[in-house]
Amino acid sequence: MTLPYIDHLLSQLARGNTALEQSFGRHIHWGYWPEPAAAQPERSEDYARAAERLSLELLDLADIAPGMRVLDAGCGFGGTLACLQERVERLDLTGLNIDPRQLQRAAHLARPRDGRLPRFVAGDACTLPFADASFDRVLAVECIFHFPSRAAFLAEARRVLRPGGALVISDFVPARSWVPMTRMARWPSLERLNLFGACDVTCSAAGYRNLAAEAGLNVTTLRDITRHTLPTYAFLGRMLARGTRRGAGQRMAQGGLRLLDLVGRTGLLRYSLLRFDPA
Ligand SMILES: C[S@@+](CC[C@H](N)C(=O)[O-])C[C@H]1O[C@@H](n2cnc3c(N)ncnc32)[C@H](O)[C@@H]1O
Repeated sequence: MTLPYIDHLLSQLARGNTALEQSFGRHIHWGYWPEPAAAQPERSEDYARAAERLSLELLDLADIAPGMRVLDAGCGFGGTLACLQERVERLDLTGLNIDPRQLQRAAHLARPRDGRLPRFVAGDACTLPFADASFDRVLAVECIFHFPSRAAFLAEARRVLRPGGALVISDFVPARSWVPMTRMARWPSLERLNLFGACDVTCSAAGYRNLAAEAGLNVTTLRDITRHTLPTYAFLGRMLARGTRRGAGQRMAQGGLRLLDLVGRTGLLRYSLLRFDPA
């Protein structure tokens, strides 16, 4: 799978881009601002705080207790696991990613707690290399839209959850009326040009309830947090304007951000936190 934004991020981090290191060196996801009007889109440290806050909102929903076994599927640089490990003791943490380059950085950044380090495993979230009933919580932060199949991932997450376990994710959930438009974004020609690579944002709330039922799960929480994430677009827009992309590539990326901002504001595409519990 080709994800141009990940390749760009890794090459900029290798070149010592300090603004990117601060904003996306730990988390590769949108920010969460409790007071969106107070966001400071020109400041990387404000973005870093907001990205950390997004992980915290998701972790609140996951309700993780000391001693639990937690899998973060599509773990990026391991930021959500680090955030969790700093707050809860005696955890057994595993991060999984399809891209070994990200895992290398995650392992480099990881710090021990209670004599343990998170373990990082290369693999596809749709064929989890773990035994049945091996985790109390499975997380997937802002990545399910890249996975080859939501249905396969939900089935795998259900398989590896222990009794009483839960799956918690974040995703862009379209309003039912917007689903046909989101299917257009899947045209191969658009996906090739798109900075974010192949993204499937076609699963509505009703779609999630159906997929969950097929996997033996129930959607127990679906929280729309779009309003709190919107300053992300102003931040990314400024970064793009300062970055190396020029000409048509930059105009296209800026246009994409404006569209995401608009469909977020109008409720057509909702940044959501979802919790699934076994049926
Ligand atoms: C937007 S990033 C989010 C990373 C991380 N969850 C975070 O919040 O910082 C999307 C991630 O999904 C990962 N990914 C894409 N397809 C995957 C797959 N099939 N299995 C596991 N990880 C995958 C990418 O490598 C990338 O790390």
